[in-house]
Amino acid sequence: MKNFKFSAKTDIFFGKGEIKVLGNQLKKNGAKNILLTYGKNSIKKSGLYDNVIEILKEKNINFFELSGIDPNPRITSVRAGIKICKENNIDFILAVGAGSVIDCSKAIASGSLYDGDPWDFAIGKAHAKKALPVACILTLAATGSEMNSGAVITNDDTKEKLPIHAECAKPVFSILDPEYTFSVPKYQTAAGCVDIMSHVFEQYFSPSSNAYVTDMLCEGILKTIVKYGPVAYEQPENYIARANIMWAGTIGLNGLLSCGKMTDWASHLIEHEVSAIYDLTHGAGLAIITPAWMRHVLDNYNSYKFCEIGKNVFGLTGNDGIDLANRSIDKIEEFFKKLNMPVRLCEADIDNSRIEEMAEKINSRFGKIGGFKQLDKNDVLAILNSCL
Ligand code: NZQ
Ligand code: ZN
Repeated sequence: MKNFKFSAKTDIFFGKGEIKVLGNQLKKNGAKNILLTYGKNSIKKSGLYDNVIEILKEKNINFFELSGIDPNPRITSVRAGIKICKENNIDFILAVGAGSVIDCSKAIASGSLYDGDPWDFAIGKAHAKKALPVACILTLAATGSEMNSGAVITNDDTKEKLPIHAECAKPVFSILDPEYTFSVPKYQTAAGCVDIMSHVFEQYFSPSSNAYVTDMLCEGILKTIVKYGPVAYEQPENYIARANIMWAGTIGLNGLLSCGKMTDWASHLIEHEVSAIYDLTHGAGLAIITPAWMRHVLDNYNSYKFCEIGKNVFGLTGNDGIDLANRSIDKIEEFFKKLNMPVRLCEADIDNSRIEEMAEKINSRFGKIGGFKQLDKNDVLAILNSCL
């Protein structure tokens, strides 16, 4: 097991009615003049927006708003948020929504205390060293952004979608009420489940061995999604299903599942190129890329790892080897199909016309990718071609 540092800076308030802590937590964290960020309609439709505003007024907390943050949040929204923060001496950001709203808010928080353009963080020209404090009220289980330091931002001018790492912008607290996810549509519920599973795969498949405890946590999260994903899909108001998925999403990418091991992240980097150009939902892109990545990297030496998932998560039987590994990958793909996710690019109306461009962008920015098995441009091309 590799040495590691794990620190959980974010206080989590989990469960039905936990919005009750919002006012006091904002006060405790010194929020006096906040930027409230959200997406399009969902929080107004659900009544969450009204609840938050009522609490802010009750606590005499002044607020400005940035609304309309898109899925696959754009750098233009980040810049708009920074402008509001700088012009109005904002001292705290409250993100109410899903991963895109939270990611955009983290980038705003970092960019507000930086003199240059926030895209500098994405292209590595600058590193976020300080940020306004951020808190979240999560409305969709998927990214883990509510308890991590990542933010993924899209630049429409350059057709790039790149991650920003801002430890300084990790949320100070997040409120996770599973009832807020009752209204998440089937498609987004499914995409969220795929995203959570993909985060686990990116950390589970590793050249490091002996982090047994971490791998068992990974398998537990996968089993949770396999058990409760279809339940939440069919019964959107099933609290137990929504609650288990929500917590699985948070644990899935809060650092716990990479303790003691190297990670992969090739499928995510490839998916980001697809959604950068086609504005595809992240989880849907992963449902297409992940099984293709698995089939591409599978070999005799690493097949046991795929077999473990087949046996421990999907209950397959048989001797370890390529055959069982392939059956495990088939099971994963079948599960995505059961949630009505696309598993080929053509199902998302994407053809081969820009595949070369995607592979070249990865190559020029990152060189070889993947910790489990290193992939060069030809590997990326082969994976994308196999998804057509
Ligand atoms: O805009 P509104 O009206 O709020 O609607 C949203 C949006 O259309 C809707 N929604 C959210 N909560 C809802 C709801 N609709 C009904 N009821 C609710 N309770 O869902 C749609 C998708 O929202 P989005 O924020 O895009 O979803 P998600 O949480 O999946 O976030 C995806 C983004 O996060 C990035 C992805 O690349 C993508 O840009 N990621 C961020 C990561 C991180 N920060 O660590 C890691 C991930 O791997 C991922 O890359
Ligand atoms: Zn993801």
